[in-house]
Amino acid sequence: MKDRVALITGITGQDGSYLAELLLKKDYDVHGIVRRNSQHNRSRIEEIRDRARQRGRVFELYYGDLCDSGSLNRIISLVKPTEVYNLAAQSHVRISFDQPEFTTDVTGTGVLRLLEAIRINKLEARFYQASTSELYGLAQEKPQTERTPFYPRSPYGIAKLYGFWIVKNYRESYDIHASNGILFNHESPRRGKNFVTRKITYSLACIKHDMQQTLFLGNLNTQRDWGFAGDYVEAIWRMLQLKEPDDFVIATGQMHTVRSFVEKAAALCDFDLAWEGCEQNEIGRDTKTGRILVKIDPRFYRPAEVDELRGDATKAREKLGWQPKVSFEELVSMMMESDLKLVEKQKQLL
Ligand code: NAP
Ligand code: GDD
Repeated sequence: MKDRVALITGITGQDGSYLAELLLKKDYDVHGIVRRNSQHNRSRIEEIRDRARQRGRVFELYYGDLCDSGSLNRIISLVKPTEVYNLAAQSHVRISFDQPEFTTDVTGTGVLRLLEAIRINKLEARFYQASTSELYGLAQEKPQTERTPFYPRSPYGIAKLYGFWIVKNYRESYDIHASNGILFNHESPRRGKNFVTRKITYSLACIKHDMQQTLFLGNLNTQRDWGFAGDYVEAIWRMLQLKEPDDFVIATGQMHTVRSFVEKAAALCDFDLAWEGCEQNEIGRDTKTGRILVKIDPRFYRPAEVDELRGDATKAREKLGWQPKVSFEELVSMMMESDLKLVEKQKQLL
C-alpha cells in the first residue's frame, strides 16, 4: 500500500490530538505544525510519539504558523503529505471580538496561505478544512444542512466563511481534492478550559474539591448541538477517503441549553442545583448546603450571540456511513468524571 502521510495544523489542539491518534492507528505517518510558545503546550500529544514508535510510524513536529507563508511552504515541500488537515485557528468566538484582525489573519487568510503552499508546490494532497456551524450564526433554517444559507455572527464566523469559500474556489479552480467539514460543537476531556462545557466541568470539580468558590458564566439559555470530539475526527478522516471532495455537516441532531449542561454536571457532583433570580442577577444554589455555585458575569456575554444551533447530518450518514456514538449524557459524564479525577490529583500536589 502507498505510504499515507498526514500533515495536521493545530495538532496541539483538542481535535488535532484525537485526529493524530486516529491516523496513527490507521498506520499513517503523522506530521504536525506547532507554534513557538513561551511555555510547554503539548500536553494533549505528549504520549503520541511513543505510540508512533511502537507502531513503527513517524511522528514529527515542525515550527510554523498559519500567518507565515514561508514556514508553510517549507513544511509542505519537506513533508510532501498525501493528506493535509487544516485544524489550526484562533477558535474562540468571544475572543474573536477582542482580536478581530488577528482572528481574520489566522482563521481566514491562513487557509489561503496553506492552499497556496499546496498549489505552488504542485502537491497532489487531499485537503480538509475545519469549517464550522458558526457559519450558520443567526440560523436561517432549523435544523441546519449543507444547503442552509450562512449568516455568521462574529469575526471568527466571518473568517471561517472566507475559509469555506476559498476551499471551494481552489477545488473548482485548481482541481484540488479539498473538503469542508461543517462541524457542530464537539467537546471532550481535552477541550480548552475557556469553552463553556469544559469551563463548567472543570469549575464544578474545583468547587467540589474546595479549590474554587463560584462558577461564573454568561448566557445560560443558548443552545448547542454538542457531540464528542473522538467521534467527529472519524468523520473528518472519512471525508478525505471519498473519491470526490465534498462538504458535510457533522452533528448529533440534538440541542441542549448551557443551563441543562450545568444541571447535569452539577448532579454528577452530588449538588442539588436550583436557580433563583433572572438575567444578570440569576444564581444557581446548592439546596443541600445553601452555597451559591453559579453566578452570571456579563463579561462572558457576546456582542452578537448565536442563540441556537442544531445540525442535520443526514448527508454524512448516507455518504460517509458516519453517525455519532456518544450521547449528550455520556459526554457530560465523561467530562465530569475526568475533571473530578484531574482536580483530585492536582489537589494532592498542593
Ligand atoms: P483548539 O483546541 O482551539 O486548537 C486550535 C489549534 O490551532 C491549536 O493547536 C493552536 O495552537 C493552533 N493554532 C492557533 N493559531 C495558530 C496559528 N496562527 N498557526 C498555527 N497554529 C495555530 O481548537 P479545536 O477545538 O481543536 O478545533 C479545531 C478546528 O476546528 C479549529 O479550526 C476550530 O475553529 C474548528 N472547529 C471546532 C469546533 C469545536 O466544537 N471544537 C467546531 C467546529 C469547528 P496552540 O496550541 O499553539 O494554541
Ligand atoms: N466560552 C463561554 N464561556 N461560553 C459561554 C459562557 C462562558 O462563560 N457562558 C455562556 N456561554 C455560551 C456562549 O455565549 C455560547 O452561546 C455557548 O455558551 C457556547 O460557547 P463556547 O463553548 O465558547 O462555544 P461556541 O459555540 O461559541 O464555539 C465553539 O463551537 C464552534 C462550533 O459551533 C468553538 O469551538 C468554535 O471554534 C466552533 O467553531
